[in-house]
Amino acid sequence: MIQRNDPCWCGSGKKYKKCHENFDRKLMSMKLRGKQVPPQRLIKNEEDIKWIREAGKINTAVLDLVGEKIHAGMTTDEIDQLVYNYTIEHGATPAPLGYEGFPKSCCTSINDQICHGIPDDTVLKEGDIVNVDCTTIYHGHYADASRMYCIGEVSDKAKKLVDVTKQCLEAGIAAVRPWGNVGDIGAAIQPIAHANGFSVVTDFCGHGVGNDFHEDPYIHHVGHKGTGMVLAPGMVFTIEPMINEGVASLFIDADNDWTSYTDDGKLSAQWEKTLLVTDDGIEIITE
Ligand code: MF3
Ligand code: CO
Ligand code: CO
Repeated sequence: MIQRNDPCWCGSGKKYKKCHENFDRKLMSMKLRGKQVPPQRLIKNEEDIKWIREAGKINTAVLDLVGEKIHAGMTTDEIDQLVYNYTIEHGATPAPLGYEGFPKSCCTSINDQICHGIPDDTVLKEGDIVNVDCTTIYHGHYADASRMYCIGEVSDKAKKLVDVTKQCLEAGIAAVRPWGNVGDIGAAIQPIAHANGFSVVTDFCGHGVGNDFHEDPYIHHVGHKGTGMVLAPGMVFTIEPMINEGVASLFIDADNDWTSYTDDGKLSAQWEKTLLVTDDGIEIITE
């Protein structure tokens, strides 16, 4: 049993009474009310957050750079080279490279590819919509984000899908409150997708991130308000809705075992950000 003058369990070096004592009281009261509460390992301390923020800055700069350079006629391998070079030059590491056998430094998912597209000699063409997903490791800490890029003029339906998916991410972020629940996020996203005639992919989720690439909890993009794990200050996670023009079901490329495609061949879009729950709100780690 931790004493009030002991060093806090979070590793801050502060006395427990000046650090997470009130936090633990609050969490205990929620647990007694039947809520699922996060384990201590999911609560980042100031030191973790400092490095996660730095990873986030490099991650944002990488995605900005992709936005400046992406164009029709470019290959997805060239995007991968940009991501790799910028990341390494800034003292960071691209997390995908070698992750569970993934061969490249980012994911590039075009049109009916939902996620985990592998950069190769595919040439981007006018009208394509492309998701580029980058995860950056800096000083052992992770930030994960992705954006959609429209290549030249895209169809109205592609533009609408990209815009609605961005709205879904923003609504998910707006639903996050300290001492709220994971279910609040999906509950905010799902109605927006459905009101626009789109479907929400449920086979992939957002996730805790920061001290590792994929941590608990799963962040579902559908759900019910007030359900699921409590979102406590110090938690860092992604929201990354994948929204489909047609059916939500998917299949995985049998040759590479990574890339997922919509079952009906219709378009899919995704936006992702990493965020931190603070005492009085949220902080976006990857702006
Ligand atoms: N960045 C992806 C995510 O948002 C995960 C990619 S795993 C990889 O969680 F190996 F394909 F890079
Ligand atoms: Co992610
Ligand atoms: Co990602």
